[in-house]
Amino acid sequence: MQTHEIRKRFLDHFVKAGHTEVPSASVILDDPNLLFVNAGMVQFVPFFLGQRSAPWDRATSVQKCIRTPDIEEVGITTRHNTFFQMAGNFSFGDYFKRGAIALAWDLLTNSVDEGGYGFDPEKLWATVYLDDDEAADLWREIANLPVERIQRRGMADNYWSMGIPGPCGPSSEIYYDRGPEYGIEGGPEANEDRYIEIWNLVFMQNERGAGTSKENFEILGPLPRQNIDTGMGVERVACLLQGVDNVYETDLVRPVIDLVASIAPRGYGVGNHDDDVRYRIIADHSRTAAIIIGDGVSPGNDGRGYVLRRLLRRVIRSAKLLGIDTPIVAQLMATVRDAMGPSYPELVTDFDRINRIAVAEETAFNRTLEAGSRLFDEAAEITKASGATVIAGNSAFTLHDTYGFPIDLTLEMASEAGLSVDEAGFRALMNEQRQRAKADAAARKHAHADLTAYRELVDAGPTEFTGFDELTSQATILGIFVDGKRVPVVAHGGEGETPDRVEIVLDRTPLYAESGGQIADIGSLSGTGGAAKAQVTDVQKIAKTLFVHRVNVESGEFVEGDTVTAEVDPKWRHGATQGHSGTHMVHAALRQILGPNAVQAGSLNRPGYLRFDFNWQGPLSDAQRDEIEIVANEAVEADYPVNTMYTKLEKAKAMGAMALFGEAYPEDVRLVEIGGPFSLELCGGTHVHNSAQIGPITLLGESSVGSGVRRVEAYTGLDSFKHLAKERALLAGLASSLKVPSEEVPARVATLVDRLKVAEKEIERMRRSTAASAASNAAAGAELVGKVRVVAQRMPVQTTAGDLRSLVGDIRGKLGNEPAVVALIAQGDNDAVPYVISVNAAAQDLGLRANDLIRTLASTVDGRGGGKADLAQGSGKDPTGIDAALDALRADIARS
Ligand code: ALA
Repeated sequence: MQTHEIRKRFLDHFVKAGHTEVPSASVILDDPNLLFVNAGMVQFVPFFLGQRSAPWDRATSVQKCIRTPDIEEVGITTRHNTFFQMAGNFSFGDYFKRGAIALAWDLLTNSVDEGGYGFDPEKLWATVYLDDDEAADLWREIANLPVERIQRRGMADNYWSMGIPGPCGPSSEIYYDRGPEYGIEGGPEANEDRYIEIWNLVFMQNERGAGTSKENFEILGPLPRQNIDTGMGVERVACLLQGVDNVYETDLVRPVIDLVASIAPRGYGVGNHDDDVRYRIIADHSRTAAIIIGDGVSPGNDGRGYVLRRLLRRVIRSAKLLGIDTPIVAQLMATVRDAMGPSYPELVTDFDRINRIAVAEETAFNRTLEAGSRLFDEAAEITKASGATVIAGNSAFTLHDTYGFPIDLTLEMASEAGLSVDEAGFRALMNEQRQRAKADAAARKHAHADLTAYRELVDAGPTEFTGFDELTSQATILGIFVDGKRVPVVAHGGEGETPDRVEIVLDRTPLYAESGGQIADIGSLSGTGGAAKAQVTDVQKIAKTLFVHRVNVESGEFVEGDTVTAEVDPKWRHGATQGHSGTHMVHAALRQILGPNAVQAGSLNRPGYLRFDFNWQGPLSDAQRDEIEIVANEAVEADYPVNTMYTKLEKAKAMGAMALFGEAYPEDVRLVEIGGPFSLELCGGTHVHNSAQIGPITLLGESSVGSGVRRVEAYTGLDSFKHLAKERALLAGLASSLKVPSEEVPARVATLVDRLKVAEKEIERMRRSTAASAASNAAAGAELVGKVRVVAQRMPVQTTAGDLRSLVGDIRGKLGNEPAVVALIAQGDNDAVPYVISVNAAAQDLGLRANDLIRTLASTVDGRGGGKADLAQGSGKDPTGIDAALDALRADIARS
């Protein structure tokens, strides 16, 4: 049975049983603690927690899931995928254990003709949580499972959560016995490769807190209702129903293996286990990479971007290890698209972008590999030269850390060079790095605020935002918090008056809460009568619905239940609307000039300023930048009306509205349209009424913010004008110091730069010739100290150490073969005192050594130095000691 058919049967089965089919969410949902969506239930978390009421009692989906903690297992076991499709059915306070077990059992064991998967019931096993007698009894009753095929397991296996705070509960897993050729008998307890898990039924009934492992976290208490969350591994079911050995050989993954086999010099499944693993890594990872890029991630050095980079690099490296030395990623992406496109049309419609990003990473990594190979050769050479055969652990670590060289590549190259690698040393360094990363991650988690104090207010319903229509609203205080703890009252000068510790929640507010790239409004709250006053410095949303005002209480007191007047600072808001509407103009202009591949990757705007990140390879040309600026300003000038409307997400997308990748949009969305087709975006922000109100838009520059992502920044409105005025003043200042009209400044500067270069060359020439004539004079004026002809001289100020070295050589040459010592010392830049001493062979025969004499010079000018018998040099810090140094030197020579 093909994978597409397995998906279809699943959805059909549950739709028939009263479930609503919900599309897969993006693999990126807005949760700072969750890198990627790792289960079908993630998009439903607010329903389980009771933060929002579910629109349906029963739902079913096939969710795109990414799990990378087991990345090292890929290809080695028969069942680990970094991307997989989780088919699930969900009950939100509707059916519970009995319903979940019966529905799953029917689909698995119903015959193929009846719409099921036709699994042999005798081969199925179940596990339940330790004390879950109810589930065990239901398996006997509903499925007739004998007691020996129901195993009880602990927290680690049969108690499920997302690994972070959220809903959780005991689970019951269904396993299929693949038979003795896959290992020993004894059920899933004994062997999870033979008994392969295909479906997990979670009885979602509790909420968990923070914790450190699967078994160690606090259970905070029961959820408002008992729910069901299940997950069936589509790839694993496909593996069984297609009678293949492992998930990589199923119908949607195998084509990649076949493609690679048609290119690689060594085949798949011909008895080389390491090669087979490489094939499977390529097949698994290239699929995952395509999906992740499809949902808006670009390769980077941390977070999601790093996961993507690692996947692609493992693909490229595995291909290299298979002996493929040509680029391969474009073909892999096309093969993934063809296999997965029917279920995930975005892989087809967005193929150009996906392919471009993946191939760019391949090109970059290949360059890295080249540079890394040079470093490797050096490390190998040093190792061999020192007579050793083991490459140092820190070389392997640098290769890994700086050049992205995976250790097995280093091992492979080492063995080709007849060497080995200090793997223990490498691992110790890796371990240290991992500890550092863990500490970072822990710090990040801590930053995720504890939101339980706000729960009651979140549950009571969303804050009404009145700020689209008015800047001042009457509102009621629903709650007051100091340091995140709820209090009934807050007063000026009282507990919590310190800035930024007090938060106030209102039932309605005109103040915009930071979201969608627009930063929060500032404004004020005042009590009736005006005695109580607070400045609002920030507004943040909790659970996406509750607006929390951060305030400084300036006078009087605020009490829960009070009526207050909330007011937006009108000047601020005016600037904020200019910034946000300006962002839409720049976005529209960018796409007009660069085309639809310039996809938004993020934005930020505040009064007078905006920045906009987008996917793009390489810098923009000056001409492109100018054009973008012109198009945006022409649209401002056109004075387009700004229209906002609410519609269904699907309809908005059909209208061609631009939405941000990875953003989870609700069913009903707000559309902001400026100038008809010119700009149409899904957006909840505040905007000007007419585009002319944005004022001038001035692009500041354009830069890179990671691989394949560029950033433009701009000023809007009065800030734009101020920026231009500042530049004008700068230019005027330059023109006046150069004494030319403004328009002649560039030519004037160019001339000056040219003249400066000529002058510098001339100075350099003169410096050398002065030094050279000093050398001749010096040689001529050599004094005889004992039997030794000595030149011991102070050189003109600013003679460099390099000059001294060449002069010393010149003078020594002029002195002939009689014993001679040349010592030059100068006062260089910044009071540095460079010196050089040369002793010719005849003088050395008399026992003189340059490296001895240098100490005499050094000691008098507070310096250091060293060298060999014929030539030594150094540098001191005290120019006042120069004459004394030369005298001491002469005295030394006289004593020889
Ligand atoms: N959420 C459950 C899992 O991912 C079904 O295993």
